[in-house]
Amino acid sequence: MTETLYERIQEERAKYPPDSRSAVMPALRLAQDEYGWLSPEALREVADALEVTPAFCKSIASFYDQFHLAPVGEHLVEVCTNVSCAVVGAQQVVEAFERELGCRAGETSPDGRATLRTVECLGGCGWATIVSLDHHYRTHVKPEDVPGIVEELRGE
Ligand code: FES
Repeated sequence: MTETLYERIQEERAKYPPDSRSAVMPALRLAQDEYGWLSPEALREVADALEVTPAFCKSIASFYDQFHLAPVGEHLVEVCTNVSCAVVGAQQVVEAFERELGCRAGETSPDGRATLRTVECLGGCGWATIVSLDHHYRTHVKPEDVPGIVEELRGE
C-alpha cells in the first residue's frame, strides 16, 4: 500500500518535535514531488498536515528557488547568470535557450517540454557557464551547444 502525502508529511513532522513548522521544507518538497508544483491546493494540504496556515507555507515556498508556485515543464533548464558565468557569456547561453525552446527565461516552452530559468551561482564557477538540466550539471556550456542540448531534451 502506498503512503499518502499526509502520512509522509506526518513522518517528517515527527522528526521535528515540538514545533511542526520546522518540517515545512521537507513537507513542501514532498508535495512538490507529488504534484510537480505547489498549487494553492497543495499548499493547503501541507498546511493542514502541519497545522499551520497556507500563508506560512507560501511565504517559505516563495523564498526558495527550488519550489515552484506555477506549473513547470517536463524538464527544468537552469542557467547560472552570476558573475563567473556572466563573464564567459551566460547571457548568450540564455538567449540561445530562449530561441531553441521558444520561450523567455522564467517561462515554459509552448510544447510543455521545458521550463527555462536563470539562477544565481550553482557552485561550479570554475567550469562556467553552468547549466543545470533537471539538477544535473553541464559545464563550459556555449551558445553553440544549446541546440544539441534541447534536441536531447526533446528526444527523451
Ligand atoms: S557563477 Fe555560475 S556557477 Fe558560480
